[in-house]
Parts: sequence; C-alpha cells; structure tokens
Amino acid sequence: MSMRTLLAFAATLAGLSIAQAQDYPTKPVTIVVPFAAGGPTDVAARIYGEYFSRVLGQQFVIENAAGAGGTTGALRAARAAPDGYTIFVHNVAPHVAGPALYPSAQYDPVKNFEPIGTLAFAAHYMVVRKDLPTASLKDFIAYAKTNPGKLNYGSAGGGSATHLACVLFGQQAGVDIVHVPYRGTGPALNDLVAGTLDFMCDQGLNMMGQYQGGTVRVLAVAQATRFPGLPEVPTAAEAGLQGFEVTAATAMYAIAGTPKPAVAKLVGTMSAAYKDPALRKRISDLASEVPGPGQDTPDALGAFTVKETARWSEAIKKGNIKAQ
Ligand code: MLT
Repeated sequence: MSMRTLLAFAATLAGLSIAQAQDYPTKPVTIVVPFAAGGPTDVAARIYGEYFSRVLGQQFVIENAAGAGGTTGALRAARAAPDGYTIFVHNVAPHVAGPALYPSAQYDPVKNFEPIGTLAFAAHYMVVRKDLPTASLKDFIAYAKTNPGKLNYGSAGGGSATHLACVLFGQQAGVDIVHVPYRGTGPALNDLVAGTLDFMCDQGLNMMGQYQGGTVRVLAVAQATRFPGLPEVPTAAEAGLQGFEVTAATAMYAIAGTPKPAVAKLVGTMSAAYKDPALRKRISDLASEVPGPGQDTPDALGAFTVKETARWSEAIKKGNIKAQ
C-alpha cells in the first residue's frame, strides 16, 4: 500500500469514528454504580439514567459493581473502554478518598475520568433506629458518651460518604462509636429499620421513604440551614453540635479519552436534565438538590473533584482514618 493510500485509509477511519461519535449513542450505555442498589448513588443514577434514556433514545442501564467502599466499581469504570458506552456515577468523597484508603484502588480519580456533571447535592442526616431512647441530637450525644463503644452505625463501606460523615460526627461530638461497613447504604438502612444498627449518617436520597413511613427517626441535618422540605428537622448546630456539616455530591463521569462528541452529548443532556421540572422534583422530594448556577457545569465538577481530592487525603492522614 502506498503512503498516499495509507493516509487516505487512515483519514476514512478517523472520519468514520467521528461520525459514529456524533451519532452517539447508537446502543445501550452502561452506568457503573459502585454501591448496592437502593442507596443514594444508585437512586440518583436511576433518576438521571431514565431521563438520559428518554432524551437520547437508548437505554442507560445501571450496573451495580459494589465492594471495597466503592473502589471496586471505580476501578472497573477506570479500566473500561473510553467509548462513551460505559460511564460512571459516584459520590465524590469516596471516589477521591478510595485510592488513599485501599492499596488495590489503582485508579486516579482526576486523570482517569472526564467530568460530566453533578447529579445531586445531598446533605447528611443523623438517622436513628425507631426505638433508640434519644429524642434529640443532644440526648443522642449524651447517650453515646455514657455508652462508649456500644452504638453502631452502618455505612456503604470504608471511605464511603456515609462512613466519612460519621467519622466526622464522632470526632466533633467526642464520642466512641462503632463502624459496620456494608456494600451500600441501601442494605445498611434495611438493618437500621430492622433494629440491628443504632444509627446512620445517611442522605435523603436513601432515607426519605423510611423516614416518611415512620420506621426510622431523624434527629438533625448536617448543614448550615434546614432543608425546606423538612422544616421540622433542626440543623446539627441548632440541636447542639456546632460545625457538623457534610454534604455528599453524586456525580457523573465519562472515562478519560471518551470521544469529544460523545462527551458533549452527555454534557448537553445533563444541562437539559437540570431544567426538567419532573427530575428536579424527584431530587428535592428526596431532601437533596440539583446543582445551582456556578455548580452546574463539567468544569465546576472537575474543580470540585480536584479540591475534594486534596481535602480528603489531608483529612485521612490527619484523622488516621482507615478503610474499616
Ligand atoms: C456513600 O456513602 O458514599 C453512598 O451513600 C453510598 C451509596 O450510594 O450506597
């Protein structure tokens, strides 16, 4: 083959792959979720996945690849073909904390992923089993102080947002509490309802149904202001614990190297999703928020991911936080 024919052939192939990327998606897309079904990450991924399926005319199918605090799924996604047919939905804190906590987590949260957008900001709530004899956060802290090492909490595994939030709670309240890791916050909540766990630092995306059904109690929200949809729930500061503020961000990433037209289509669909009244209502009904101005772009998610990587690797060192 002459050099000219070879160049023409290469140009045809490049043209073909750009045209294919512009038609994207032409087949189902897998959304890797690194936690069990039913938890906050899964719920947010399903709400957006339904929207993307409807608007882009292909199924966005959830694959729950749970384990090791979300790092099993993160590694699975980082190693997927960067063709736009595998994308990743994760909570930003465990995404960036994973490599600092698990030696097997051989991925780079920034370099291996391309930010698409934040799905939801979800404050953490102090959620207790129904029959725990504590009516307020103040009571709860006093009870934990008189029962050191007795109260156990469930999380989605070492380094998950629900783990890190409770570690922070323990440090700020000065209490000795026991961590019980699960493969996702969904199964942990089932055990809280059953009464085998005492409490969780959970997100509305997970606990709202149980709270509304009266099977668990919510003592406080770990943010500066009350959530408008839950005016009866005091902030941690109002309930006697200053500085306990932790918000989880659930986010969508493409795999680094995904063709630009496919990334652009995902980003465009995400921007449209933010304006969809039905989707916004589904998120706010779960005591969480769709990103507002300044937070609603891939660049904002990229900058946040970099910032959180520094923040959590520092906190992990300082607080001597372990995976278990
Ligand atoms: C987390 O704690 O990081 C997430 O809430 C886990 C989950 O989605 O189950």
